[in-house]
Amino acid sequence: MANDSKGTIGILTGGGDCPGLNAVIRGVVRRADQLGFKVLGIKDGWKGMLKELAEPLTPASVSGILHRGGTILGTSRTNPLKKEEDKNKVKENMKKMGIDYLIPVGGEDTLGVARVLAAEGLKVVGVPKTIDNDVEGTDQTFGFDTAVSIVTEAIDRLHTTAESHHRVIVVEVMGRHTGWIATMGGLAGGADCILIPEKSVPLDDVCAIIRRRRERGRLFSIIVVAEGYQLAGADKELVTKSAKLDQFGHVQLGGIGEIIASEIERRTGFETRVTVLGHIQRGGSPTAYDRVLGTRYGVKAVDLIAEGKCGMMVCLHGSKITAMPLASALTKLKLVDPELVETAEIFYA
Ligand code: F6P
Repeated sequence: MANDSKGTIGILTGGGDCPGLNAVIRGVVRRADQLGFKVLGIKDGWKGMLKELAEPLTPASVSGILHRGGTILGTSRTNPLKKEEDKNKVKENMKKMGIDYLIPVGGEDTLGVARVLAAEGLKVVGVPKTIDNDVEGTDQTFGFDTAVSIVTEAIDRLHTTAESHHRVIVVEVMGRHTGWIATMGGLAGGADCILIPEKSVPLDDVCAIIRRRRERGRLFSIIVVAEGYQLAGADKELVTKSAKLDQFGHVQLGGIGEIIASEIERRTGFETRVTVLGHIQRGGSPTAYDRVLGTRYGVKAVDLIAEGKCGMMVCLHGSKITAMPLASALTKLKLVDPELVETAEIFYA
């Protein structure tokens, strides 16, 4: 531990980037400075821990980053648990780099690594991040609100063109194996049907909704589909862009929108187009909500370290920022609440 401070906190951002990461980094650095800790920013997620890539972070160096998207530290999907030697290297390098405490900011993968390292004695506090909002143990991850806002704006724009051309537009959104972005974005954008991994809907039912709208003189429809949606019945399978797996064993999802759009056109005869929003959902400035949530998470992570409460993940419960053990925070994916799905279904008339 450094003599002139209470110790050094390392912070890394892992997995897909996400609006609000810089708010967390700034929150950590500013609170750490106030409480007498130094901060080392580790580059490119767990890759930086393996390669000893880091730079000191100070209040001056994080000035002006609050509103910026992405992460000033860079990110990667490197998994140090793939090889025992890499896991040991993280531990060795933490000592070598003079890091007393580590704050990994990430989703289930990055925090899964954090959980293992915490169980093996490292002083770790996790911060839940992902536009997918699928981390069990927190009411909301930062980045999700921004993604939902982007999807909502896109749906608003697609409405005007769909209506002008009397078309069906299928909008494919991210979210991996849960339908949070699709459900919230679809509800906010007034989608006519939302298809999510949590609940398969026969395509004939989707076509019936579109036909009913036509009968009522609504000559266009907007169908939102989550990338992890699987068709109902015998055709049920994840649609992927390639069979290649990342280091955490994830496939690259994408393409379900195209399949659904062509099936809708084939079955109804109505002209149908597809829009895949892709990485636009993760880019650009975070919303005010995500800036505040990220800031509160960052401050809380340092407070936990200062209180000697490591092995925890910061989380949002109701309107309060609190914490729970990493060990119990990541046991399963957080699925869309069925009540929310029922509310969305009221509008599939
Ligand atoms: O987890 C965030 C996320 O954006 C998912 O919604 C999506 O499936 C995935 O990451 C895309 O990953 P990549 O940026 O590697 O294409």
